[in-house]
Amino acid sequence: MSELITIKDLKVHYPIRSGFFNRVTDYVYAVDGVDFVIEKGSTYGLVGESGSGKSTTGKAIVGLEKISGGEIIYNGENVTKASVRRKINYNKDIQMIFQDSMSSLNPKKRVIDIIAEPLRNFERISDQEEKKRVKELLDIVGMPEDALYKYPHEFSGGQRQRLGVARAVASSPKLIVADEPVSALDLSVQAQVLNFMKRVQQEFGLSFLFISHDLGVVKHMCDNIAIMYKGRFVEIGTREDIYTNPQHIYTKRLLSAIPHIDVAHREEHKLLRRQVEAEYIAHQKDYYDEKGRVYDLSELSATHKVAVKNGGAN
Ligand SMILES: Nc1ncnc2c1ncn2[C@@H]1O[C@H](COP(=O)(O)OP(=O)(O)OP(=O)(O)O)[C@@H](O)[C@H]1O
Ligand SMILES: [Mg+2]
Repeated sequence: MSELITIKDLKVHYPIRSGFFNRVTDYVYAVDGVDFVIEKGSTYGLVGESGSGKSTTGKAIVGLEKISGGEIIYNGENVTKASVRRKINYNKDIQMIFQDSMSSLNPKKRVIDIIAEPLRNFERISDQEEKKRVKELLDIVGMPEDALYKYPHEFSGGQRQRLGVARAVASSPKLIVADEPVSALDLSVQAQVLNFMKRVQQEFGLSFLFISHDLGVVKHMCDNIAIMYKGRFVEIGTREDIYTNPQHIYTKRLLSAIPHIDVAHREEHKLLRRQVEAEYIAHQKDYYDEKGRVYDLSELSATHKVAVKNGGAN
């Protein structure tokens, strides 16, 4: 596998203005120095609780949020600046899917116009060709042809997310940033939408940056995962590293929070959750510096890194 996109020391700081002169008095360090690489054709998971900076990271990569520091290298080009992004058609290659399809799909437009929009923006094709392409895209996400002339409100939440997937892949992107794409859906529908996402990935050979607050959801999707807290990464690794050998207390907490359907192990799970919670209370200050900031990542293996004091040495 080879690198598609490399994020280096990415920072997004939002100014806080206050006082009579409306001066900048402080910043929200929404993203405060994160590094990661997404390989071609792979899925990278970004997981953390609400407010940890996941969406801001995703939006900065897509170009929807101003970057305060760091670099984004895409296919060897430094695309940190908007002018370079325009020059290489970056906006065609990188698409985004949002959690709330009701507000991200234009309610006044028919499905054909919604899905064809990226095609119209980036390619010059005949109406006939366009219709054919949209039909193919609908088929890939398991939607019938008669969806073409309907409006978003005529679909269920799961169907709308599939339309969102179809639109995102219309421009043949290389990377899709999927921000909580199934969080608003029932469990059974989640699985279905995730399956269509996987299918699209195989069909087009594209990469995903998959954002979620739930480690249970990303488990079957992601090759690599970063655990985010307060704008920083507390741990990164392969799926294997994160699920079978978690090191940071925050990762362990997220793992223990995954609901278990399995009744037989429910008591066991409850006990584990209590243990993790006790460990968290007893040792949490060892995992953050005196300002509560997450430490820099230290290498445990070629794939696995964790944020601990002095690289883990005491
Ligand atoms: N436009 C903005 N101006 C100021 N602060 C912002 C802005 N957007 C986000 N923030 C702050 O940045 C931090 C990170 O927000 P972000 O939306 O990236 O979190 P998130 O991990 O996606 O959370 P959620 O799981 O709730 O979607 C939060 O503290 C948020 O309040
Ligand atoms: Mg978010």
